[in-house]
This record gives sequence, C-alpha cells and structure tokens, in this order.
Amino acid sequence: EKGGWSSFMAKEISEEPDAVANTIRGRVTDGLVHIPELDGLGDDVLRSIDRVLIIACGTAAYAGMVGKYAIEQWARVPVDVELAHEFRYREPVLSPNTLVVSISQSGETMDTLMAVKYAREQGARTLSICNTQGATIPRESDAVVYTHAGPEVAVASTKAFVAQITACYLFGLQLAQVRETLAADAVRALVADLQKVPDQLRDVIASGERIAELAHWMADTRSVLFLGRHVGYPIALEGALKLKELAYIHAEGFAAGELKHGPIALIEPGQIVFVIVPSPRDERSLHAKVVSNIQEIRARGARVIAIAEAGDVAVLPHADEVIRIPLASPFFEPLLAVVPLHFFGMELAAAKGLDVDQPRNLAKSVTVE
Ligand code: F6R
Repeated sequence: EKGGWSSFMAKEISEEPDAVANTIRGRVTDGLVHIPELDGLGDDVLRSIDRVLIIACGTAAYAGMVGKYAIEQWARVPVDVELAHEFRYREPVLSPNTLVVSISQSGETMDTLMAVKYAREQGARTLSICNTQGATIPRESDAVVYTHAGPEVAVASTKAFVAQITACYLFGLQLAQVRETLAADAVRALVADLQKVPDQLRDVIASGERIAELAHWMADTRSVLFLGRHVGYPIALEGALKLKELAYIHAEGFAAGELKHGPIALIEPGQIVFVIVPSPRDERSLHAKVVSNIQEIRARGARVIAIAEAGDVAVLPHADEVIRIPLASPFFEPLLAVVPLHFFGMELAAAKGLDVDQPRNLAKSVTVE
C-alpha cells in the first residue's frame, strides 16, 4: 500500500535508509562481516576463486559496477561486470575458479537467469544477489544473498538498487577477510562507516524538496547529462537511466574522464549537467580532476548541479547549485549520491504530469527477451 505517499516510488525512495540497514542486519558479528548464506559456498571456494564476474541488467548492472570497484579494491580479485544479454550469446570463457555473481531485484529477469544457467553448465560457481525470496534465479544458483529492501512496486528500481550495492559491499568485505587482503581493523573501520549510512541517508532525503524545486524549473528541458568518476560513474549512468525511463528525457551518463574524448562537444549554453563530485579527502586527487571538468563545461555555458560532500567548499565557485551529501568513506558515497538523482527522476516525471510508478512501455519484471 502507498500509505500517505503520492506514489509507490516516493514511498520506496523514503525506504532507502531501511533497505540499507535491513541488508546489513544479521551480517555483522564483532564488527566483522559474516554473511551466513555464504557458508554454503564455503571459505575454501572464496579463497580459491580467481575471478568474479557480475552479471545483471539495467539498474542492477549499475549496482554491480559500484560493487566491482569495492570488491576488487578490498579483496584484490579481478572483477568484471557484464550485461546478462551480452554475456549469454558470446560463449564466454569460464572456469571452476570463476564466481559468477548475478544481481536481480525480481530474480526472474530472463537474460540474467539464462546467463546463470550457462555459467553453471560451464562449471562456474554461482551466487545470486536477489530481493525476492524463492525466485527462480536464486533457486538456480549455488548460494543466495538476499537484499532486504522489501517488495518494490514502482517499475523504476530505487530501494532495491541501494540494497544491491550494500550486498556487494558486504560480500567484498567478507571476501577480503577470508582472503586476508584487508586487516581486521581496516574491515572494522569500513563496517562501522557502512553502518552509519542509513542515518546519513535520512539526512539526504531531507534534500528532496530542493530537488523538487529544481525539477519543476526544468520541466521543459530536453536533455540532461550526468558526469561521475570512479564509483560516481555508475551513479551517473543510474541518474541518466532514471530520467529516460521516468521523464522520457534524453539523458546520458559519462565517465568524467571521457569528456575530452567526445562528450564535451555536446555542451552548449544552458545544457544541464549533474556532476557527482568525489570527496576532496580521497587520496587519488579525483576531486581536483572533476572540479577541473566542471570548469571546462561551465566555460562552455553548462548549468552545473554538483552533488558534493558537506564542507567541500572548492566546488562552490564553479557550480550553479550544490546538493550536499554527508561525509562517508569514498566507497560508500554512491549510496548517498544516488538519492538526489532518484528524487530528480521522480520529480521531473511528476512535473511533466507522468505516471512515475508505471512508465510507458516498461514492465517491472522482464521475463521475456
Ligand atoms: C530501472 C530498472 C531496470 C531493472 C532491470 C533488472 O529502474 O528497474 O533497469 O533494474 O530490468 O531487473 P531485475 O533487478 O529485476 O533483474
């Protein structure tokens, strides 16, 4: 039931903090990660795998891309992400030491299911990250880690997305513990930061009103671009997908580093560009690079809406609007940065008078090819 909400999507965005909290619950012991459902796979398997391949479609694939950055960094195992429909038709090479991780809210997406079946036939191990108890994909997999986002009714995925990312983080941390690629103290520090995210998300949700104002001003816009870097890149893709599917506006997400390789030619006066700004505390100086991207597009007339960490004053002179997110470990920023983009897609659709829960031409669960 929608309760007092204007749409299921509005309700489900408000549930994003709980989706993260409920996905963590029961999986942390003494400050370390222990996902009981992974016991079935066994630590030997987690130690012996030499490759992780994440397969999914749509928003779930973007969750997997965030997962790739974190799992690879923490567990020092190569991680690739592939769209299930591209994977299944090219006779991909897999070995018994490949762990294929599928991500699906519904657990019924045909392409993802067929990709999992193929992986099993090839002798790979399969782990399902799924939001629907007893769905087909988890039943076809060696192990399942459920995301506890609760039932998602709106066609556009929101709370399931943050839960999928959270499950990837937990899996990556447990893998790092088992493979001893992170010291226990480092894992504890990350877990403690992750546990703060639900409360931080509640703060971000308070920015929804400002986003609604922006969206209403922009109701006539014909194109919106999204830029992000590192874990902000999949969030840019997610922001663009939501705008396409909900508001029927042409939108593209780019890796900020690609700008000079083509997309900057799109910038003309008045072009709206959302930029997910990395934390200035990050050692890789990605913040400075993205601020410099903002200067480049601003000089060509772009209207920049920056999503930036609280206290990041360096972006202020360069952005037309700054949406603040609380300080988190850089890997966890996607959870916080995506919420304003979920709001934006919903509000722009609402401003255009569209049905945000049931966009045209789309189904919640894609059980056909
Ligand atoms: C976008 C969206 C879709 C799904 C995709 C996969 O908002 O909801 O892109 O993410 O169809 O669905 P599941 O996760 O059920 O496999």
